[in-house]
Amino acid sequence: MRKWNFRILYLLLIGPLAGQAIGEERVIPEFDRWDAEDIMEICAGCHGIYAQGTPDGEYPRLAGMNPEYLAHQIELFKTRKRINIPMIPYATDHELPPEDVRTITAYLASIELPRHMSPLDPNKEFDALARLEESKKVTNIPHYPGNPKAGGKLYKKECASCHGSKGEGRWDKRVPMLTGQHSKYLLRQIENIRKGERFHDSPEDAELFREYSDQEIADILAWLSWQDD
Ligand code: HEC
Ligand code: HEC
Repeated sequence: MRKWNFRILYLLLIGPLAGQAIGEERVIPEFDRWDAEDIMEICAGCHGIYAQGTPDGEYPRLAGMNPEYLAHQIELFKTRKRINIPMIPYATDHELPPEDVRTITAYLASIELPRHMSPLDPNKEFDALARLEESKKVTNIPHYPGNPKAGGKLYKKECASCHGSKGEGRWDKRVPMLTGQHSKYLLRQIENIRKGERFHDSPEDAELFREYSDQEIADILAWLSWQDD
């Protein structure tokens, strides 16, 4: 059985990739890659083979997300505290026992998605298949319509303390990244929080999120989409 050790300092890896300095150590727990790929076959049907999600926001990206956050969401799905109808058949202790949750969430956290295609190397022979494979992984959130400048101001005031100065999230506090996540998925979550259908961070948040105008939300989403360039 081959164990992969991902105890690496993400400070060095994700930081430059995301074009930002992340002031925390991001440790990915050890996991068994074969088991993980087995479980991933189920998830890939909706979330994509690289867990990149879909740009229409139907399925969120899971790649590169905090493993504890992911595991917590699966727990919420299992206990129906967060309603996710498409995942009902999978979010059970029978289909996804705790050991599998640990494996798949560590695996998902370890997947890195490039934001752009790597430049062509003139000294290397052109490999069309490798380029095609790479292009499937490239995930870059298109600019969301709104005012990114106004959104950035609001974001810094209202969201950055938890979600990080650039929307990168906080692993130590189980706060998800927002930058790099599909805008329409985020919008749906914000609507669910406003309706009280999804718990955010405190019971008052439904009210708080309702106080932001749709334009302000669009501006925040616009700003987040610009952070992903
Ligand atoms: C039949 C489709 C389907 C399959 C298969 C599926 N998911 Fe999902 N998943 C969804 C949908 C839809 C959402 C978004 C729900 C919402 O809008 O709140 C989601 C959301 C999630 C989230 C929450 C992400 C976030 O940012 O909060 C996690 C974690 C997740 N899925 C994990 C998994 C894992 C792990 C598997 C494989 C074992 C899997 N899913 C298989 C449809 C699916
Ligand atoms: C006090 C900390 C805190 C603040 C401030 C905060 N958030 Fe969050 N946010 C969280 C936590 C914690 C979660 C994860 C909730 C859970 O576990 O389901 C979350 C989740 C979310 C999600 C769901 C992401 C996903 O992948 O499903 C969205 C969208 C979101 N926040 C948007 C915002 C926006 C926009 C603001 C500012 C207007 C904001 N948050 C301010 C703590 C915070």
